[in-house]
Amino acid sequence: MNERKRILTGIRPTGSLHLGHYAGALENWLRLQSEYECYFLIADYQVSDYADDIARVRDSVWEVALDWLAVGLNPESGHFVIESLVPEHAELTTWLSWFLPLGMLQRNPTLKGEMADFGKKSVPVAFFTYPVMQVANILMPRAHLVPVGEDQLPHIEMTRELARRFNRQFKEVFPEPEGLVGRVPRLVGVDGQAKMSKSLNNAIYLKDDAKTVTQKVMGMFTPRMSPTDPGDPEVTPAFMYHEAFNPDRAEVEDLKERYRKGAVGDAEVKRKLAAAINTFLDPIRDRRATYAANMPHVREALEYGTNQGRAIARETMEMVRDALDLGYLGKY
Ligand code: TRP
Repeated sequence: MNERKRILTGIRPTGSLHLGHYAGALENWLRLQSEYECYFLIADYQVSDYADDIARVRDSVWEVALDWLAVGLNPESGHFVIESLVPEHAELTTWLSWFLPLGMLQRNPTLKGEMADFGKKSVPVAFFTYPVMQVANILMPRAHLVPVGEDQLPHIEMTRELARRFNRQFKEVFPEPEGLVGRVPRLVGVDGQAKMSKSLNNAIYLKDDAKTVTQKVMGMFTPRMSPTDPGDPEVTPAFMYHEAFNPDRAEVEDLKERYRKGAVGDAEVKRKLAAAINTFLDPIRDRRATYAANMPHVREALEYGTNQGRAIARETMEMVRDALDLGYLGKY
């Protein structure tokens, strides 16, 4: 049998996708989409805004699908799955919760950080348990590989642990999936903060127009006090972006060399960066516009993908019920 290995990965629908998503994950999805059977999940069960802004979640489902099509994901080979339309995810989460010690969740460093971000606001139970659902997402298509951003690795570690426990205790159902982090594991924000993110308001979006990108780049945080000071490209956001998105290596090396000597102004570094990012984004913008003018096609991608996701979910749940010996009514 020559079955292709499977990828499951996903994103929470909280808004449009940005350069950090691209360099940290999407780029790998694109590279691997023809090699693996892919399930790209829109994880709408796991959006904490649900409690206060359902309309935004609903809109974001479409935004994410448009962004995926815009970067070149192929919805015929990779399935775009809307999580809550495959309620098996909730069912598997319930079963798996019994095999996950509370302490493992409490120790999860990514979850810990996110819970701290709630500050004084109370944390919904569903937020605390979302990593369990993420485990269910990954195990649902019995995935082998999970290409994600660096912050997701603790969840994948939990997935491996749960798969091992389940297989050992019941039946060999789940492969132990590997995580795969992108070329740029964590992209800084335009303000120099450690991570580009919508909530920090420091992101360049894949759908930003050229003028917006140029404005954001020109306003980027610069650690150096004066353009004649020697600078360190390693700690300068503009150079981190040059490394990530400017294919003209000679230009980048020349700028870096002059920057170290205090022989280039930040404006030149940024102007060249804005040009590079805009060149990179142009084809993505074009494709986005084409799809945005044809939303029924986007809908088709979501509907088809979700049906495929549901089909493999049913198959897996059969295996899970069999492994757990849940056929109570078969007794008499
Ligand atoms: N938690 C992920 C994020 O915040 C999104 C996600 C949900 C996911 N389910 C997943 C990622 C399964 C990989 C696999 O980005």
